[in-house]
Parts: sequence; structure tokens; C-alpha cells
Amino acid sequence: MKIFCLIFLVGFLFGACEYNFIVPEEVPPIDNGGGNGEETVSFSTQVLPIFSANCASCHKTGSTKPDLTAANAYQSIYTSKYIDVSSPEQSKIYSFVKNGASTHKHKQYTAIEGQLMLTWITEGAKNN
Ligand code: HEC
Repeated sequence: MKIFCLIFLVGFLFGACEYNFIVPEEVPPIDNGGGNGEETVSFSTQVLPIFSANCASCHKTGSTKPDLTAANAYQSIYTSKYIDVSSPEQSKIYSFVKNGASTHKHKQYTAIEGQLMLTWITEGAKNN
């Protein structure tokens, strides 16, 4: 009888261990969780590609400011003129480009890009 109890116990322990190995669900990179502090938006892998794909063609070095080329984007926008970490929505790099913001025909962020920018600024606009 004892041996059965032991087998049962061992089986139970192994069974319990299995739960420790459940891999957390992979979070898609763009889903930043709305700034809940659990994930961090990366400037280099998430913000910069938006600039490179949509902005740097006009906002290039020596042309329209801010310079949004990969080499200079962070230095160009990390000023109080473009970023306001205390009221992220006031940041010009967000407010000027967010969907529906411009009265004239200027490029706008998609909803997802806008959310990403806002989260990045909310998290302190780090050069991460
Ligand atoms: C087709 C060219 C073009 C593209 C593409 C473009 N911009 Fe612009 N952007 C301009 C021009 C020209 C101005 C200045 C004139 C104006 O107010 O529209 C400007 C102004 C701005 C300003 C305000 C600058 C200031 O100092 O007040 C910001 C911020 C900005 N752009 C960000 C972006 C971002 C971010 C993107 C990419 C999502 C982008 N732009 C894409 C041409 C462009």
C-alpha cells in the first residue's frame, strides 16, 4: 500500500512540475500593453523603423527638421521642443503626426504607430 502512495505522490509531484514549464504566451512586439509598465517600447527596434520607413525620406539630414534619419533621430527629437515626458500627448513628435492632427497634408501615424510613440514617450523616451 505504501508503495502505491509513493507512486501516487511522485506522479503528483511530476504532474505539478509540468505546470512550471508552461511557456508564457509570446507577446507580439507591437502590442506594448498600452503602457502598463510590463513591456517596454524600444526606440531602436520599434520607434526608429517607423521613422525610417515613413519619415526619413523628407526629414533627412540638412533638410526638414527634425532630422529623422537613423543616425540622428534620437538626438534631434530628444528636446523639449518635440518631447514632453510629463505630458506625453503634448509632445510634438506625437501630436503633430498623430492621426487627424494636421490640418494640412502631412504624413500621419497609423493608430498603432501613434500608440507606440505615445507609449515610448510615456516610458521616458529612452534611447533603448
Ligand atoms: C513628404 C515629406 C514628409 C514626410 C514623409 C514626413 N514629413 Fe514631417 N514634415 C514635413 C514638412 C515639409 C514639415 C514642415 C512643414 C509643415 O509644417 O508641414 C514637417 C514637419 C514635421 C514636424 C514638425 C516640425 C517642427 O519643428 O515643428 C514633425 C514633428 C514631423 N514633421 C514629423 C514627421 C514624422 C514623425 C514623419 C513620419 C511618420 C514625417 N514627419 C513624415 C515633411 C514630411
